[in-house]
Amino acid sequence: MSNLLDWANLPFGYMRTDYNVRCIWKDGAWGKLEVTSSEYLMMHMAATCLHYGQEAFEGLKAFRGRDGKIRIFRIRANARRMKTSGEYIKMKSPDEELFVEAIRLAVKLNERFVPPCESGASLYIRPLLIGTGAQVGVSPAQEYTFLVFVTPVGPYFKSGFKPVDVIITRDTDRAAPLGTGHIKVGGNYAASLPALDVAHHQGYATCLYLDAREKKYIDECGPANFFGIKGNSYVTPDSHSVLPSITNDSLMTLAADMGMKVERRHIPVEELADFSEAGQCGTAAVISPLGKVFDPGTNKVYEFPDSRKAGNVCEVLYNKLRAIQFGDAPDTYGWVDIID
Ligand SMILES: Cc1ncc(COP(=O)(O)O)c(C=O)c1O
Repeated sequence: MSNLLDWANLPFGYMRTDYNVRCIWKDGAWGKLEVTSSEYLMMHMAATCLHYGQEAFEGLKAFRGRDGKIRIFRIRANARRMKTSGEYIKMKSPDEELFVEAIRLAVKLNERFVPPCESGASLYIRPLLIGTGAQVGVSPAQEYTFLVFVTPVGPYFKSGFKPVDVIITRDTDRAAPLGTGHIKVGGNYAASLPALDVAHHQGYATCLYLDAREKKYIDECGPANFFGIKGNSYVTPDSHSVLPSITNDSLMTLAADMGMKVERRHIPVEELADFSEAGQCGTAAVISPLGKVFDPGTNKVYEFPDSRKAGNVCEVLYNKLRAIQFGDAPDTYGWVDIID
């Protein structure tokens, strides 16, 4: 089983696995979970997900530990976030029980694709909720499909835990001040593509968004949250348009555990100069430390003291979180679900 794929060199991309699971809400209730090996969906051409963006998704991971057990990280937090996302855009959303059952089943059925521990790779889990009922006027669908597929992904840092450079975005917004930035819906990602495209074309790993109203404060960092380290403080933006990252929540807990002060507040762009370390955090990488941040609005470059190497705090936090995910450290907070 462990020779199935070249695990350590897998990209962060889609790869077919054996099964996905689906469930349909119609006539006032969720139906039974169904298992299929089809990668396709048959849907009405007037489905609301296609026209009006009635679509929410999640992203979480399963890891195989040294003990051979499979651990899924923070299913319930993802369940809550999908419910918040779905309800905000008026979709029928699976409750925690259905969400957890679907994910456990999808992982169990595709067990052979959970990479071996030593590869550092993991199984990415993608729950998706879409309006599949037909509608022509702008209104919520009368039918929804909840689906979970999984795909193995390689270790994020193939050549070591190294910082990346990012560029500040000043001419487009990912999310409006009172818009949908705080939920995980497809429209935010469509709106983020122009800035990401500019960043990639200019040789940056990703872009750093500022608050859409005043362009004064740090907001989201690509498809991840921003945090900075200042003295003994872990500082992260307090903004309605930032997605409440489950990784960030976990890192804040671990930072507080280490005796650090956790500050959630507005972060003026210029404060970048005062951080000893900064990073972006999310399920894909846990932490991707930042090296340099370029602001095309002022032509300023903020460079972290050692922009070629991850800082100490980033490294300690990264190792602590990975240890819980792989079962090398105790699961003090009940973050892990084991699949037997
Ligand atoms: C816009 C955005 N912000 C932050 C995150 C990080 O969230 P999480 O830690 O729950 O993966 C993600 C997803 O990974 C995201 O898409």
